[in-house]
Amino acid sequence: MSEMPGLSDIRPNEVAVAAPAPTDAGLVFIGRIRTPWATRAECPKRGDPEGPVCRIEIFEPWGAALEGVSELERIEVFYWLHEARRDLVIQSPGHGPTRGTFALRSPVRPNPIGVSGVAIAGVEGSALLVRGLDCLDGTPLIDLKPGRCPPRTDAAD
Ligand SMILES: C[S@@+](CC[C@H](N)C(=O)[O-])C[C@H]1O[C@@H](n2cnc3c(N)ncnc32)[C@H](O)[C@@H]1O
Repeated sequence: MSEMPGLSDIRPNEVAVAAPAPTDAGLVFIGRIRTPWATRAECPKRGDPEGPVCRIEIFEPWGAALEGVSELERIEVFYWLHEARRDLVIQSPGHGPTRGTFALRSPVRPNPIGVSGVAIAGVEGSALLVRGLDCLDGTPLIDLKPGRCPPRTDAAD
């Protein structure tokens, strides 16, 4: 009787790279996001689907993971809001009522993860061009996933 393939076995046409060893709950920044916004004051509160094209630069060895992305219309971008403080549980955004951090999409949170559903405008080598981001120039990239989420219209920032 043949052995069942393991869940971690590599399939035909798949490509593995020498990835850094994972650590418990650690993150590896896999790229850098280039946007026109150098300060939080200039940065939009939420992505505009008609906004400027931003460039997501993927670091090696992850460039090959863009294979097939040019066939997608939308993608979810996960990023690390690296300049945000992380110690507030209650916040008073300038534009809304005081709320708990988990009732807000504020960048200020214990683990400052940002996510935006964006439109794909192109792929150039190991860079992805998108519209609809709301992060500072140089924001570290955590992950990309084929987009299910439409542009956001709800939820407080
Ligand atoms: C309200 S958050 C929303 C982020 C993401 N769309 C989300 O919903 O998870 C967007 C704001 O975060 C701030 N921001 C953007 N990039 C940042 C960074 N790298 N570090 C700290 N704050 C950042 C800017 O003030 C921007 O207007």
